[in-house]
This record gives sequence, C-alpha cells and structure tokens, in this order.
Amino acid sequence: MTTLDDLLAGLDGPVVAALGRSGYGVVVTIDRGDGPQIVHANDAAVAILGYAAADLAARPALDHLVQDDRTRVEEMVRLARAGEVVPSPIEIGIVRKSGERAVVEVGATVVPVAEGTASVAFFRDVSERRALRSRLALADRMATVGTVAAGVAHEINNPLTYVLLNLDRMASALDAITGPPHAVDRLRDALAHARDGAQRVRSIVSDLRSFSRASEDTADIDVRRVVRSAVNIAGNTIRERARLVEALDETPPVRASESRLGQVFLNLLVNAAQAIAPGAPDRNLVRVSTRFDGHRIVVEVADSGCGMPPAILRRAFDPFFTTKPIGVGTGLGLSICHKIVTSLGGEIEAESRDGAGSVFRVYLPRA
Ligand SMILES: Nc1ncnc2c1ncn2[C@@H]1O[C@H](COP(=O)(O)OP(=O)(O)O)[C@@H](O)[C@H]1O
Ligand SMILES: [Mg+2]
Repeated sequence: MTTLDDLLAGLDGPVVAALGRSGYGVVVTIDRGDGPQIVHANDAAVAILGYAAADLAARPALDHLVQDDRTRVEEMVRLARAGEVVPSPIEIGIVRKSGERAVVEVGATVVPVAEGTASVAFFRDVSERRALRSRLALADRMATVGTVAAGVAHEINNPLTYVLLNLDRMASALDAITGPPHAVDRLRDALAHARDGAQRVRSIVSDLRSFSRASEDTADIDVRRVVRSAVNIAGNTIRERARLVEALDETPPVRASESRLGQVFLNLLVNAAQAIAPGAPDRNLVRVSTRFDGHRIVVEVADSGCGMPPAILRRAFDPFFTTKPIGVGTGLGLSICHKIVTSLGGEIEAESRDGAGSVFRVYLPRA
C-alpha cells in the first residue's frame, strides 16, 4: 500500500512546483484516527494561512477553518472516503493567524495510505475576488436605484414646491379669518401637520437627488474642519445619549466638496446617535477621530450602540435598507455616504458586533 512518504515524494515534481508559483497553496494532511493533521505545506499555503510550516503541523487541520465550514468539510471527506463524488472546487472560510477571515477555493483528493487517510488539497485565496464581486454588485444596485431615484425625485420636486407654497399661504390666510376659535385652531393644527409631512417629503427628495447630483466644486480641504462642523450639527443629539469624544489628529488635505463630505460625517454621526438609546449618556460613547496612516486619511466614527448582526451589516449600505421606523430612517444615509466616498476615490467600511457597537471607517486619498 502507498505510504505517506510515497505521497509526499510525489509532490516534488515540477507540476506541483508550478502550481505553488501560481499562488496555489498545497497542503497534505494525514488522519491517523484523531482528525486530520497537516504534514506538508508549501510556501503559498504558509503565506495564505499566516502560520509558519512548523506551527501548521502542530494544530489540527480543521482549526484553520471557520466554525461553520468544519462540519461541511468533515462531511465531504467522509463522502469522498466512501467513494462518493463530491463537488469541487468549493469555497470555504479560513481564519488566518492574525484572526482575519479569508475565503479560499479548494480542490482536494482523499488518498488512503498505510498510516491512515491522507488528503492533498490545492487552494487559493479568493477573498479579494469575493470582496470585489460584492462591491461590484453593490455598485450595480446603487446605479440602478440612483437612476430611478433621481427621476422620481425630479418628478416629485415640482408639485411639492407648490404644495408647500400653498400650505404656507393658507397658514397666513388663516390668521385673518374669524370664526369659532376651536374650528380655526383645528384647521391650524391640520395645516401644521400637512406642512410637517410635506417637509419630510422634501428632505427625502433632497436625499434622493444627491444620488444623481454631478460632483460639486472641490477644493483641498482639511477634514478636521469638516468633521468639526458635522459634530456641531449632530452634537446635541449625540450628547443626549453618549459622551462625545473627538480625537482629531492633523492630516494632509483631501480634495473634495466640503458640503458633500460633511454630509458623509453627519450621516455617520446621526447613525451612531440613533444606535444608542437615550437616557444613559454616561455609559455610552461616540468617538470620532481623524488620522493619517501614511497613505490615506482615515476618519472613524465609533459608537457603543446596538451594533449589527452580520445579516444587517451585509445590507447596511444598500439603498433603502433600514431597520428604523418610518419617519426616522429612509435607508439612504449609508448608500449616499458610499457613493460620495467612492466618488472621491476613497473607501468606506464598517465593523460591528451585535449588541456591542459599531465602527465606520472612511479612507480618503490625500490631495
Ligand atoms: N452606527 C450604527 N449602529 C447600528 N446600526 C447601524 C449604524 N449605522 C447604520 N446602521 C444600520 O444600517 C441601516 C442603514 O443605515 P442608513 O443607510 O444610514 O439608513 P437609516 O439610518 O435611514 O436607517 C440602519 O437602519 C441600521 O440598521
Ligand atoms: Mg442613517
């Protein structure tokens, strides 16, 4: 019967070397009855997993997989040993030494050897491709929604202007009318209500329009100033719910429209405030910071609020995705942030732990 050494010797050929040089990780495991153990890893595998080859050998092979994929892989190995056909290649999640998660595409074969059950797996890191794919899908959804929204906003805006105008006229005309006081009061209430509603429509429409607005005048600006003015606007709302900490390091200038960038930070600050229930400002924190990482300008808004489970985090940047009641959220805030930041050549990302708060990070290129 083949031995493990025979199998390993077979990996010395030029074909496997060429695969390694194409970035394919090669790993051989042996299961002597107590779970698969790594006995060989090429340089690419070491680079992908982040562990030195010796450390790889010291840990159960399945420990490198994200929890959800361990049982899936075990099941596939079981099927393969029973001679069944298993799908290949498959994408599975791994955890690098740094704790960072990644996605690899793996194809493997199971080989019975004298010592137990061996397997040879070839894999490559497809995390970037995955992330790119989901960014493209988001950009695509945004473009579609953006086009539709801009058209709708335009259509709504004209009639809305005369609705508001006439409501104002009626309000002033009411002052001149004499009649039973309670009847006039009722009319006044009704009018005030109608105006509130119309104002709200106006603010939604103006959000929608910002999807299509051509880029405004840009200049070299100091992000700290923009952050401070957003903090001025949102500050009171935040302080009702949390301590507000500003850690604004000096940064190189960025080239942007001050008002649009201000909108980004304001949206993030309002979301942070809304994630925290009012009533315990001493026990909550909203922290806004700026720094330069030597490459890009980083603005971070962190809160100790409700956080997001992964299912919500995945959709947070989608246009019209909101978990807030009508009148509080439109679900446009983050999609507008995303649009503005990417139009500046930057990136926006979010990290969150359900129940423990969120961090939103905006990366901007220096001017
Ligand atoms: N700081 C935050 N903490 C927790 N959840 C957040 C935070 N920011 C955004 N979210 C989630 O993302 C969703 C979308 O946000 P956004 O696009 O700003 O729309 P809106 O605030 O109008 O709901 C929110 O409804 C909320 O569920
Ligand atoms: Mg919002």
